[in-house]
Amino acid sequence: MIKTTAKLIKKKELTKNVFSFHLECFEIANLAKAGQFINILVEGFTLRRPISICEITKNGLRIVFSVRGKGTKKMATWQEGKEIDILAPLGNGFSDSTEKDSILVVGGGLGVAPLLEVFKSNSKKIALLGFNKDEDVILKEDFKKYGKTIIYTQDGKNFEKGLVTKDLEKILEKENINKIKACGPEKMLDAIKSIANKRKIDCEISLEERMGCGFGACLCCQKILEKDNEKISFHVCKDGPVFVV
Ligand SMILES: Cc1cc2nc3c(=O)[nH]c(=O)nc-3n(C[C@H](O)[C@H](O)[C@H](O)COP(=O)(O)OP(=O)(O)OC[C@H]3O[C@@H](n4cnc5c(N)ncnc54)[C@H](O)[C@@H]3O)c2cc1C
Ligand code: FES
Repeated sequence: MIKTTAKLIKKKELTKNVFSFHLECFEIANLAKAGQFINILVEGFTLRRPISICEITKNGLRIVFSVRGKGTKKMATWQEGKEIDILAPLGNGFSDSTEKDSILVVGGGLGVAPLLEVFKSNSKKIALLGFNKDEDVILKEDFKKYGKTIIYTQDGKNFEKGLVTKDLEKILEKENINKIKACGPEKMLDAIKSIANKRKIDCEISLEERMGCGFGACLCCQKILEKDNEKISFHVCKDGPVFVV
């Protein structure tokens, strides 16, 4: 983990109140892994804001975030050229895959962001991305650039209608998938976990929890996970955010 300054070199509003930032920070680009996150200092706030790494570029990182509260609202006002104080890379990311693996990435809402780098760096893969409404869809072209991508929305006007898990079992069967990597709302992750467990497919999920320090010192991000009928306590920031389930 490094405390450093990253320069905001490209800012774009992807949909209403969802922003993409390209950050220039060479040393983090060399260290970071898909699924890890960065902790951002916002002026006027003591606690940093954790945001996932969406893409690792040759000169830095890309993050995608939505405005939820006061900190992210302030971040949305930052302009290109801004020097941002970050701690990075943090947490454990997704595990590496081999050429033989056939990967399914499943993302819901903003949870699609940390999956882009995983999708990029695997060869045999399919992405299932789910959103509430058609206008919430983000990163469609970015995923499509790297492989087969199916998008689900509740509206279903321009995309498949329904939940992102709708065709999951069918696709697992047809495409001979042996690894799932997922991020999104808890209900979606629960559904994926139970299908993966039933079919004995390796499954990694990325969790979100309210955080303080971001590196294991304050213990405020504790979460209980059930594995093999046993309840185990974890800290999302240092043991995760990616967990094998
Ligand atoms: C590992 C991880 C990765 C994340 N990646 C992304 C991402 O890629 N894109 C994105 O839009 N959001 C992401 N989030 C959620 C993001 O951190 C919160 O939306 C953000 O911290 C809210 O800050 P705020 O000041 O706007 O809200 P406020 O509610 O005002 O925040 C108050 C405090 O609570 C903390 N907090 C509030 N909500 C969350 C939350 N959901 N998770 C952690 N801390 C929270 C804040 O950091 C702050 O310390 C991630 C969270 C975690 C834990
Ligand atoms: S956020 Fe401090 S221990 Fe996890």
